[in-house]
Amino acid sequence: MSVTALAGGHVVVERRGAVQAIRMNRPEKKNAITRAMYAAMAGALMQGDADPAVRCHLVLGVPGAFSAGNDIADFMAVAMGGEGGMEVFDFLMALAKAQKPMVSAADGIAVGIGTTIHLHCDLTLATARTVFSTPFVDLGLVPEAGSSLLAPRLLGHQRAFALLGLGEGLPAEKARDAGLIHDVIAEGELDAAAFALADRLAAKPPQALKLARDFMRGDRGDVIARIEAEGRAFRERLTSDEARQAFVAFMSRGKA
Ligand code: COA
Repeated sequence: MSVTALAGGHVVVERRGAVQAIRMNRPEKKNAITRAMYAAMAGALMQGDADPAVRCHLVLGVPGAFSAGNDIADFMAVAMGGEGGMEVFDFLMALAKAQKPMVSAADGIAVGIGTTIHLHCDLTLATARTVFSTPFVDLGLVPEAGSSLLAPRLLGHQRAFALLGLGEGLPAEKARDAGLIHDVIAEGELDAAAFALADRLAAKPPQALKLARDFMRGDRGDVIARIEAEGRAFRERLTSDEARQAFVAFMSRGKA
């Protein structure tokens, strides 16, 4: 087993047997994802994908928080004219292009990209207190990570629209019934269950599993094109008045 801390410890990459686990580890900010965290996760995903010793990816958060989504301070910086960087785009590309099976496990908060990551995962576990939500529109933004394509495909238009358009939270039990996740797991057992599931995938004949996954995921050109198109719209929206107002409202909460 090896453990590597990246992005100042906000990302921890753990190798257990043939499973590479990427854990977001910024509990004090509910795992809001910074540019450095995206860069670290993109690098780890690509390295794991290229390493024949790795047979399964696992993405984890911390107890109570899978992720509160993109760090809004980073959004704010772009909204105020700063440079946004390509880290999130690199991470999304690594996610969409990953060649090995991917398991994810969420406990508690799963907002924005904390929800859309799972659309790229093959098996997702969550605790009963987990609520998946994507308040992109409320933030003056648009869906990302190919979610405008993948969510309707997976959930049907109505449920996808409730999630992505209305911004309604989807609790774990309902997410399982809707097909967004594989199973609901007791809180203290989530990590062990996720590693056990990843181990089971890692023990399969890798070439047969890759072929099966490739057939099921299909040609990912459409997903990649959608991530690019959403990304263009997203970057434009970041400097819109609607988005600026939403970011200022979040950043100044409780400071009145
Ligand atoms: N970006 C930056 N900071 C964030 C964050 C985000 N996305 N989400 C949470 N944080 C920070 C909070 O500002 C707070 O920081 P502070 O202690 O320095 O004030 C800390 O994390 C804890 O968050 P808090 O809001 O106190 O926790 P909570 O349990 O009451 O609420 C959320 C959790 C996720 C519901 C709430 O933080 C939230 O709505 N976050 C924004 C989610 C979002 O819109 N993400 C973008 C999606 S595109």
